[in-house]
Amino acid sequence: MSEATPTAPATDSPQSKSLRPLRELLGFLWPHKSRLIIASAALVFTAMTQLSLGYGIQVLIDQGFSNQSEEGLRRAVLFMVAVGFAMACGSFVRFYMVSWLGERVSADLRRDVFNNLLTVHPGFYEKNHAGEIMSRITTDTTLLQTLIGSSVSLAARNALTLVGALILMSLTNIKLTLIMLIGVPLTLLPVLYLGRRVRALSTRSQTSIANVGTRAGEVLQSIKIVQSFQRESMERDVFERDVGIAFDIAKKRIQQRAWLMACAIFLFLGGMVGMLWTGGQDVIAGRMSGGDLGAFVFYAVMLGTAFATLSEVWGDLQRAAGAAERLVELLHQNSDIVDTGAASIADGQILEAKDLLFTYPSRPLTPALEHFNLRITPGKTLALVGPSGAGKSTIFELLQRFHDPSGGALTYGSVPLADFPLQEWRAKTALVPQAPILFSGDIAYNIGYGNPDASQHDIEAAAEAAYATEFIGRLPDGYQSEIGAQGVQLSGGQRQRIALARAILKNPEILLLDEATSALDTESEHYVQLALEELTRGRTTIIIAHRLSTIINADAIAVIDGGSVVDIGTHSELLARCHLYQRLASMQFKEADSITPEEDNAAPDAA
Ligand SMILES: Nc1ncnc2c1ncn2[C@@H]1O[C@H](COP(=O)(O)OP(=O)(O)OP(=O)(O)O)[C@@H](O)[C@H]1O
Ligand SMILES: [Mg+2]
Repeated sequence: MSEATPTAPATDSPQSKSLRPLRELLGFLWPHKSRLIIASAALVFTAMTQLSLGYGIQVLIDQGFSNQSEEGLRRAVLFMVAVGFAMACGSFVRFYMVSWLGERVSADLRRDVFNNLLTVHPGFYEKNHAGEIMSRITTDTTLLQTLIGSSVSLAARNALTLVGALILMSLTNIKLTLIMLIGVPLTLLPVLYLGRRVRALSTRSQTSIANVGTRAGEVLQSIKIVQSFQRESMERDVFERDVGIAFDIAKKRIQQRAWLMACAIFLFLGGMVGMLWTGGQDVIAGRMSGGDLGAFVFYAVMLGTAFATLSEVWGDLQRAAGAAERLVELLHQNSDIVDTGAASIADGQILEAKDLLFTYPSRPLTPALEHFNLRITPGKTLALVGPSGAGKSTIFELLQRFHDPSGGALTYGSVPLADFPLQEWRAKTALVPQAPILFSGDIAYNIGYGNPDASQHDIEAAAEAAYATEFIGRLPDGYQSEIGAQGVQLSGGQRQRIALARAILKNPEILLLDEATSALDTESEHYVQLALEELTRGRTTIIIAHRLSTIINADAIAVIDGGSVVDIGTHSELLARCHLYQRLASMQFKEADSITPEEDNAAPDAA
C-alpha cells in the first residue's frame, strides 16, 4: 500500500530532481536513430522557416507599405506563402516522426519493464502493490511518451527559436536587443519563483490522485465485503475526503498557475510596450525603418513565446524525469533469487532440508522455519501436518525457490537448490496452492497453462484425472467456458480441481499439494482422493493437509510446529507417540464422531 511503496516522496523539491534518469531513455532512442535524425532535421528546418517570417514582415512593411509598392507587397506575400508551405511540410514530418518515437519508446519501455518484472522474486510484490506497479507501467510510460512525443521536440524547437530570435534581433537592432536582455531577467524572477511552487504542487497533486486510485481499486475489488458489512457510506466518506484533498491541492496549484500566467502576460506586454516606445522614437527620428521595428517586434514575440513554452516544458521534463526514475527502478529491479547455478540436475534424488532457517524479509525477527530437518524419499508421499502458522506453506515457497533459505541447506541429491538453473529446477515441481489461482480465460486455457504444448486430448485427460469432467460437461461451453477474472465464476471446489488438473498436466517429478482437497465436499474429496492415489503413485509428493483422513495412507507424515519438524512417522506410529499428532487426530475424529456417532473409531481420545 501507499506507505510501503518506494515512490519518490511528494516533498521532493523540484530543484533537487536531476534530469539524469532521462539519460537512460537514450538507450531506447538509439535503435531508432535514423528517425531521430530525420526528426531533428525537420525540427531545425521548421524553426528556421518560422524565424524567416520576420524577414517577410520587414519586406512587407518597408517595401510594401512604406513605398506604397504593389510589387513589393506581392513579393512579401509570395515569400510568406512559400515559407508557410515549407513550415507546413516540415511540421508534418517533425510531428509524425517525433510522435512515432514517443509511442515506440514508451511501448519498448513498457515491454522491457514487464519482462523484468516477470523475473523478480515474488516477495517484491508483497512490499510493492501490484496495482501501484501497473499504474507506473501505464501512467509513467504515458508521461514519457508525451515527453518524447512532444515536450522534447517542443523544447528543442523553442530553444532554437529563442537563440535564432536573439541573433536576428541583435542583427536588426543592437540597442533594443540590449534593452530586452536587461529587461528579460527582471521579468523572470517572479515567473521562476511562481513556477517552482507550481511544480511542487503538481507533484503533490499527482501523489494524491494516485492515492485516490489505489483506494478505489482496493474497495471495488473487495466490493462483496464492503456491501456485506454495509460499509458503503464509510467508504463513500473516505473516498470523498481523498477526492477533496486532491481537489484542494489542485486548487492551490491552479491558483499559483493563474498568478504565474497573469504575471507573465503583464510583464511580457509591458516589456513589449516599452520596446515599442523606445523603438518608435527611433523610427520617428529616422534612425530605424518601420520594417525593422516590425520584424523586431515579431522576433520579440517569438522569443517571449519560446521562453514561456520552455519554462513550461521544463516542468514537464522534471515530471518526466521523475517518471523515468521510477520506471528505470523497475527496469533494473533485481531478483533476490539469483539464477547463476549451472549444476546439472539428475532425476529421482533425495530432497533434504538440513537445519534449515528461514525468515521472511518483512518479519526479520521471527523465523518462519528454524532447525527444520526433513528427508524426502523420491517416489514417496510425505504429508505435512501441524497447526496453522506452523510453516507448512513456507517450506513449499522455499522448495520452489520463491525465497532462498536464510541458513542451513535445502538440497536435492546433496546439491543446494540454488546451484541448479532456476528454470530447470522449477520444471521439476508443480504446485496446487492453498487458494487456487486461475486466470481469466477459458477452462482449457487454465488447465493447459502449465504446459503450452498440451493438446486438447491431454487437457481432457488431465481434467478427467482431477475429476473435473463432470462439472465441465455441465458448463454451457464446456472447455471453452470463460471463468471470469481469477476464476470467480467457478465454485471453490471447482477452482481447486482445475488447479489440480493444471498440475497433473505438467506431470512434474515433485508434486506439491497445499490442502488440495480443502475446498471440496465429501463426495468430490473422495474422487479427488482417488485421483491423487493415481497421481502420486511412484511420484515424489508432498501434501499439506488439515484433514488427517486424506493422508492416513501417506508413506510418512511429518508433524510441524513452530517452524520445525517435531516428529515424523506413519499414522499409527505418530498416534502412539506424538502428542501434537494425537491432539490433532483426536480433535478431528471427535468432529467426525459427532456427525456419525455410531461409527466405531480407533482414534484415542487424548482430551
Ligand atoms: N509473506 C509472508 N511474509 C511474512 N510472514 C509470513 C509470510 N507468509 C507467512 N508468514 C508467516 O510465517 C509463518 C508460517 O506461515 P505458513 O504460511 O507457512 O503457515 P502454514 O503452516 O502454511 O499455516 P496454514 O495451515 O494456516 O496455512 C506464519 O507465522 C506467517 O504469519
Ligand atoms: Mg498454509
